[in-house]
Amino acid sequence: LVPGLVDTYGRVATDLRISLLDRCNLRCTYCMPEEGLDFLPADELLSFDELVRLARVAVTRLGVTKIRLTGGEPLLRPELIDLVAVLAQLEPRPQLALTTNGIGLKSRAAKLRAAGLDRLNVSLDTVHADTFAQMTRRPFLRQVMAGIDAAIDSGFRSIKINAVLLRGVNDTQAVDLVEWALDRGVELRFIENMPLGGDRDWQRAELVTAGEIRARIRERYEVVADAAPRDGAPAERYRVFGGGRELGSIGIIASVTEPFCDDCKRTRLTSEGRVRSCLFSHDETDLAGPMRAGAGDETIAELWRGAMWAKPAGSGLESPGFAQPERSMSAIGG
Ligand code: GTP
Ligand code: 5AD
Ligand code: SF4
Repeated sequence: LVPGLVDTYGRVATDLRISLLDRCNLRCTYCMPEEGLDFLPADELLSFDELVRLARVAVTRLGVTKIRLTGGEPLLRPELIDLVAVLAQLEPRPQLALTTNGIGLKSRAAKLRAAGLDRLNVSLDTVHADTFAQMTRRPFLRQVMAGIDAAIDSGFRSIKINAVLLRGVNDTQAVDLVEWALDRGVELRFIENMPLGGDRDWQRAELVTAGEIRARIRERYEVVADAAPRDGAPAERYRVFGGGRELGSIGIIASVTEPFCDDCKRTRLTSEGRVRSCLFSHDETDLAGPMRAGAGDETIAELWRGAMWAKPAGSGLESPGFAQPERSMSAIGG
C-alpha cells in the first residue's frame, strides 16, 4: 500500500496538477494585468528531467493517479509532447490531461493524442470575436476555434471547454456558448470567477453566480442536475434538454457559492517546483531545492506528504478574514 497524500481532514489527494510555466500568450482580464506579471526566468522552471522525476515520485510513492498539465499556457513549453509521451510510460500509468487556451493546438492536437494524452480542457469565454479580444486583450479567437476543431478530429475521449462569465462583458452570452458547445459535442463548463487575478480587483458583488448561470440557460433549455456521483470533480454536471430530446451535458464550477473543498483530491506543483496544497494556500513547500541538492525520492515524497498534511480545510472564500493569495492563477496553474 502506498502511503498517500493525506491531510488532517482525512482527504486523500490523488490528482496532481503541474504548472509547466507561468507565461501565457493571452492576457485575460480576470487573470493577468495587461503588462503581464514578473515571469520566472527559464532557468528557474523545473527542467524536463525534473518534471519527470517529480511525476514519478507522485505516481510510484504517493498514490497519484491523474496528472493534469497546466500553465500559464502549457503549449508554450516546446517539450510538451515529449513530456506527455514519457509520462504515459510511468507505471502505474496515470491518466493524463491538459488545460490549455488552445492557441497552437491546431498543429499539436493529433500529436498530443498520439503521445498518450487522455483528456483535454480548453479555455474559451466567448464565441464572439469582439468579446474575445476584449476579454483576452488579444485577437486570437480563430486560432482557438481551429485548435478545438483539431482536438475533436483527433479523437480525444473527453474535451471540455472552460468559460468564465464577467458581468457586463459576456454574461449575456451564456446561451450562445451552450449552443456552440452542444453543436460540437464538447462539454461546456461555466466557472465562477475566483479572487486569483493578477489585478487583485475581484468583487463579490460583481460575481456571476452558478444560480444566475442556471437561470440564464433555463431561458432556452431545460437543465437537470446529473445524478451520477461527482467524485471530487469541481464541476456539477447538468443534462441539457431541448425540443423534446437530450442534447448533451454542461457543467458549472461554483467555487465561490457552492464550494466543493470537502471532497478535494488535488495537489499542485508550481512551475518552479513547489507544492501548493490548495489554490488558496498562503504557503508552498519547495521540492526543487532539495532535489537539486541531492535529496532521494523518499525524502522528496516525505516533504510532499508533509506539505499536503497541512492543507487548509478550504478556500475560506466566504469567511470574513479571507485574504487573496500572493500569487495569481496563472502562476499557480489554475
Ligand atoms: P477535470 O479533471 O476535467 O474536472 O479538470 P478541472 O476542472 O479540475 O481542471 P481545469 O484545469 O479545466 O480547471 C477548471 C476550473 O476549475 C479552473 O478555473 C480551475 O481553477 C478550477 N479548479 C480546478 N481545481 C480546483 C480546485 O481545487 N479548487 C477550486 N476552487 N477550483 C479549482
Ligand atoms: N477564476 C476562475 N477561473 C479562472 N481561470 C483563470 N483565472 C480564473 C479566475 N480568477 C480559469 C481559466 C482557465 C482555467 C485554467 O482557469 O479560464 O479555463
Ligand atoms: Fe481544494 Fe482548495 Fe480548491 Fe477547495 S479551494 S477545492 S480545498 S484546492
